[in-house]
Amino acid sequence: MLCVLLFACVRELRVSASSMIALDSTPPMDNSDLDPQDQNIDFSKFLHSNPNHARLPCLICHRRETGSSRPTLPGGNGHVPCAGCHAQELANSASPICTICHTSTQSGALKGFPPLKSFNVRFDHSLHTRGLGVRCATCHRPSRGGVALTIPAGASAHTTCYQCHTPLVKAKDRDISSCGTCHQLGGYARTPTQAAAFRVGFSHAKHGPTQKLNCNDCHNIRAGLTQRRQVTAPTGLNHHAPSGANSCATCHNGKRAFGGDDFSACKRCHTRATWHF
Ligand code: HEC
Ligand code: HEC
Ligand code: HEC
Ligand code: HEC
Ligand code: HEC
Ligand code: HEC
Ligand code: HEC
Ligand code: HEC
Ligand code: HEC
Repeated sequence: MLCVLLFACVRELRVSASSMIALDSTPPMDNSDLDPQDQNIDFSKFLHSNPNHARLPCLICHRRETGSSRPTLPGGNGHVPCAGCHAQELANSASPICTICHTSTQSGALKGFPPLKSFNVRFDHSLHTRGLGVRCATCHRPSRGGVALTIPAGASAHTTCYQCHTPLVKAKDRDISSCGTCHQLGGYARTPTQAAAFRVGFSHAKHGPTQKLNCNDCHNIRAGLTQRRQVTAPTGLNHHAPSGANSCATCHNGKRAFGGDDFSACKRCHTRATWHF
């Protein structure tokens, strides 16, 4: 049923795509009347940025009804929805279009789903932590012996996010399950988990509940800011920290932490083999 609906929908889009094309005077996609110039279209690469693709809702090609965290290549059902607009290319098993998804067109062997190439990731701490009360530990878990904390990354990030962003789920009447909720066209560099503070002896494992510390003793969520600027953190400076800066010295001032005149305190931070007195 959904298939039929989707197919009808694609056909409709195809019709409106052709009328748009007529207006734009770009070549018609019905290849029966291609002029020689049109033969230059590179069908070996799928472009989300092609306006004819960009105007389609993500779920026409990326459906999530299985709930799986692994995306699958579109085309599983008789090459719908591509076939709705590319009947000509898909009828020709020598067409470069086949190589977008297949390693072999004889057996139909598929390529793996590609990693992020043309999309970024959107995430808003303020919305989730203040707005929804999601705990930090839902997404950040100890790594490297507790020194660092993980950040949801790669395909396994979906497992974390999909706990709530389930197929077809809505919030305030808006769909929050579509790929487009979190991914938009644009470049993206993952937030690293190799903070400079870890090189100066800082470990999350030594700054937890046992030390009566909470995430929000060191991190503040700032609403409305871009990736990597949403959460403040102390900088890895102690002796050289400017006064007023959020740094190790905020606590390691001989009063709050390592209180008293314990000279061995130096060695508690400076534990590396290269450190000698
Ligand atoms: C017309 C079909 C179609 C539509 C619509 C579509 N995609 Fe895709 N998408 C594909 C195909 C085909 C691939 C694999 C192509 C490849 O190997 O480059 C893909 C790959 C991807 C990838 C991984 C590769 C990359 O380019 O980053 C992401 C992420 C993705 N799609 C997200 C989206 C989102 C978000 C939307 C909606 C805004 C969307 N797609 C709409 C067909 C589509
Ligand atoms: C709603 C119609 C529509 C659907 C659905 C659609 N395409 Fe397209 N696609 C177009 C149009 C129109 C063009 C432009 C062709 C031209 O310029 O003659 C195009 C161009 C392309 C190109 C040429 C490279 C580029 O983007 O300029 C490739 C490759 C392609 N499509 C692959 C696919 C694949 C694979 C699917 C299915 C996952 C798909 N398309 C689904 C309409 C569609
Ligand atoms: C947008 C991705 C995509 C493109 C482009 C594409 N295919 Fe497929 N194709 C698939 C998927 C997905 C399946 C289903 C595989 C499965 O279920 O294991 C499939 C299945 C097949 C099969 C197995 C048929 C069957 O019924 O078991 C063959 C053969 C095949 N494709 C050939 C082609 C040829 C030839 C082309 C080019 C003309 C092409 N495909 C283009 C995605 C694609
Ligand atoms: C505990 C449940 C939960 C988890 C886990 C979760 N989200 Fe959400 N997220 C929501 C809810 C509910 C909303 C809608 C909030 C609203 O609109 O007020 C939302 C909204 C969003 C939005 C904004 C949607 C929009 O269009 O306004 C983005 C983007 C988003 N989440 C990304 C993510 C990412 C990325 C992850 C995983 C790293 C994730 N979420 C994990 C519950 C969750
Ligand atoms: C609720 C938010 C959310 C939704 C919905 C979502 N993603 Fe993601 N996706 C993420 C996050 C977070 C990452 C991790 C990014 C990173 O590695 O830094 C990710 C990573 C990816 C990757 C990279 C995987 C890898 O191997 O590196 C691909 C491809 C991808 N998503 C495609 C999709 C597609 C296709 C859809 C729709 C079927 C989708 N995503 C829906 C949040 C989301
Ligand atoms: C005593 C202070 C302190 C406490 C408590 C603390 N952090 Fe951190 N956190 C830091 C410092 C310092 C950095 C490194 C900042 C830098 O150098 O950019 C950091 C970095 C991070 C990063 C970035 C990823 C990485 O590993 O580089 C995440 C995520 C993070 N903290 C999450 C948390 C969470 C979740 C909690 C609560 C469970 C928490 N932190 C508790 C001080 C703290
Ligand atoms: C629903 C999942 C989720 C929750 C809950 C969450 N985070 Fe994050 N956090 C992320 C993701 C995803 C990133 C990476 C963002 C990016 O690269 O776009 C991140 C990045 C960070 C960073 C790196 C610096 C930055 O500004 O991006 C810190 C520090 C951090 N989180 C701390 C926290 C703290 C503290 C809490 C609890 C108050 C928390 N996070 C709750 C998913 C989450
Ligand atoms: C919010 C306050 C706070 C901040 C900020 C803070 N610490 Fe700590 N730190 C503590 C407390 C409390 C302890 C444990 C109590 C004690 O021993 O006095 C501790 C313990 C330590 C220890 C000793 C671990 C062990 O072996 O027991 C080291 C090393 C350390 N901190 C380094 C750092 C560095 C480096 C920074 C800056 C990147 C930093 N801390 C930032 C509060 C803080
Ligand atoms: C709370 C952790 C901490 C304690 C305790 C600590 N240091 Fe440091 N130390 C650091 C950090 C972080 C740096 C990196 C540079 C900075 O803070 O500006 C550093 C750098 C240094 C350097 C490198 C040169 C420089 O000034 O940048 C020297 C020397 C040094 N510390 C000496 C000491 C001595 C001596 C003690 C004991 C009296 C001590 N430290 C106690 C955290 C600590």
